[in-house]
Amino acid sequence: MEAYAGEWLQFLIRWVHLITGIAWIGASFYFIWLDNHLRPPLAASDAPDAIGGEVWAIHGGGFYHVEKFRVAPAALPPTLHWFKWEAYSTWLSGFALFVVLYWWHADTYMIDRSVAALSPAQAVTISGALLLVGWLVYDQLCKRLGFTHERLLGVLLVAFLTVVAWGLSHLFSGRAMFIQIGAMLGTMMAANVLLVIIPSQRVLVAAKEEGRAPDPIHGLRGKQRSVHNNYLTLPVLVTMISNHYPMTYGHPHPWIVLLAMLLLAAWVRHFFNLRHRGRTVWAIPASAAVGALALAIAIAPAKPSGAMRVSFADAQSIIRARCTACHAVQPRQQGIAVAPKGIVLETPAQIVANAAAIRAQAVTSRAMPLGNLTGMTDDERARLAAWLDAGAHVD
Ligand code: HEC
Repeated sequence: MEAYAGEWLQFLIRWVHLITGIAWIGASFYFIWLDNHLRPPLAASDAPDAIGGEVWAIHGGGFYHVEKFRVAPAALPPTLHWFKWEAYSTWLSGFALFVVLYWWHADTYMIDRSVAALSPAQAVTISGALLLVGWLVYDQLCKRLGFTHERLLGVLLVAFLTVVAWGLSHLFSGRAMFIQIGAMLGTMMAANVLLVIIPSQRVLVAAKEEGRAPDPIHGLRGKQRSVHNNYLTLPVLVTMISNHYPMTYGHPHPWIVLLAMLLLAAWVRHFFNLRHRGRTVWAIPASAAVGALALAIAIAPAKPSGAMRVSFADAQSIIRARCTACHAVQPRQQGIAVAPKGIVLETPAQIVANAAAIRAQAVTSRAMPLGNLTGMTDDERARLAAWLDAGAHVD
């Protein structure tokens, strides 16, 4: 019952997270799109020193005219819309999902005993500390490098993430490593809103309220973080969805796969940002496609030799020992209420019907058994592979 309630809780939080994430990323895409499309105002009456640029658009049957001030309007309007709850609620729901799914079930979802024999408390402590450390490192890089060394900042951030991903791939399961990096990036983004963008905007508004000319530096600070967030959106999404594709995180060197995907995702975002500024560089999506293809080929499973002969009885005994604690009509594993993803591996027919999925989860990748909780050995994976290669027959 508790496990069943847990599933519903996850479902609900995941749904909320998706909704808030769409709202946040949608707003981020829209405002960066606006900035990239700003053109000099058409009407001379729009005081040239106040209005930096304007955008005309048509959407949903109406015309829109948006103007961006260089720093601030002469007087504040009665209603000023802020955009912050999209970010906060995305982070809060994402963090809740992280806790409910990973921290709560650290034993199954984070720890892989064939990687490192951590205790759940150790895994959760490392994970929580890294969320904080990730933000501190990134924030310091921004503060120390200012606005003029964006490229260097990017290189150093990637180097930092590489080191963390590499280190974590020696501590956590590949899957937990991926989501941890995603959570760290998401935390940097939300903290950018909470600790830099919104406070800078408050300073601008306060100056206007007190009748002072606001210092443009605050606007620049907010803008810098907002652009960083925009570049992080697609990499973060890649870490989230790759969680459902074990060929990515299940690779023997998951940190290299993750790094490649993060870079490709940011590169794609760069294409759109350039394009919206009027420069369409098709070499970017073309190189991203080649990169993705190269990655897919590089991590493709090696073809087995096929020398071994493994009977169905042998394959079934492996599955009974390593899989059916969870993948049964009535799972024995604590915390598993129903057969995960509806996959039951008890009868010969069920095993044969799921042969391709078994290969994907337990041979091509090491996603299953979850956290290798049931202690599957390499030899067992090789024997299962041999049975699958021979056609997955019941003999
Ligand atoms: C400790 C429990 C546990 C064990 C043992 C286990 N699994 Fe799973 N399995 C899960 C869970 C939980 C999921 C759902 C994962 C998710 O949330 O994406 C799953 C999902 C799957 C899926 C569906 C994946 C998808 O995303 O469609 C397959 C196939 C699978 N397991 C095969 C196996 C095989 C083969 C074994 C034995 C070698 C095995 N599992 C052992 C818990 C387990």
